[in-house]
Amino acid sequence: MMKENSAAVLRMAGKIPWIRDLYLYEEVDSTNDVARDLGERGAPEGIVVLADAQRAGRGRAGRSWWTPPGMALAVSILVRPRRPLKDWPQLMMIAGLAAVEGIERVDCPAGLKWPNDIMIPPRPNREMPAIAWRKAGGILVESVLPAFAVVGIGMNVNIPTEMAPSELAEIMGSICDTVGRPVSRLEVLEGLLQAFADLYTKWNEGMSVLERWAARLIMLGQHVQIHTPGGIQEGIAESVSAEGGLWLRLPDGRREYFVAGDVSLRWM
Ligand code: BTN
Repeated sequence: MMKENSAAVLRMAGKIPWIRDLYLYEEVDSTNDVARDLGERGAPEGIVVLADAQRAGRGRAGRSWWTPPGMALAVSILVRPRRPLKDWPQLMMIAGLAAVEGIERVDCPAGLKWPNDIMIPPRPNREMPAIAWRKAGGILVESVLPAFAVVGIGMNVNIPTEMAPSELAEIMGSICDTVGRPVSRLEVLEGLLQAFADLYTKWNEGMSVLERWAARLIMLGQHVQIHTPGGIQEGIAESVSAEGGLWLRLPDGRREYFVAGDVSLRWM
């Protein structure tokens, strides 16, 4: 967050009791690394790390993540779930739902693309076909089992898409472009953190998040391509599992299961 905003950010976080501490940086390599470091030194859950810019932001599958100063949100949250390890993949569902709530705070429609993409339509209109939606953010959960997990969320809030490097120009969305004006990063962040704290607390006590997450996926029932290291599969994205995997209905009628994290998905 910008320096001049840091007092407002701290005030906002102070209103969310679940947040134990908030670390604010102008620039770091990766907020996920900072949070992981804190976790390794025994910090309790509820620590939030925020940076205005990242020098070496990381995405899934070894990709890099772009966080230019003053325009984006880069957040990492340290959690120590009480739930069995098999349920930990659901952290990405909680993060996705929280991100959607944050974006909706500023009147921008939002949805999710399996496994961990945060999507918005190019115009403020939910009725846009899913294929036209663009990636406005992503989630990277990194776990140090069985001790803790770092939930990293990156969002393009006020990055004009024409500023994007050419390899991103085709797929990237930004909230300011969709709503037609710059929006408050603080408001998006507040919505995200409030929703995360609330959902995470209930989930940790046993609540399910699968149905809510599935309802936010914009590609269920649609024809998609799944890119795996072994090749490309296509079919209908049929349903998702509690482990965060995706069931694909193949053209020959068989079903195939994909584990979140191994593959990426494209529309046809
Ligand atoms: C993806 O779509 O591949 C996931 C992108 C995750 C980016 C966020 S920004 C905050 C946190 N710190 C990082 O280095 N990565 C995550």
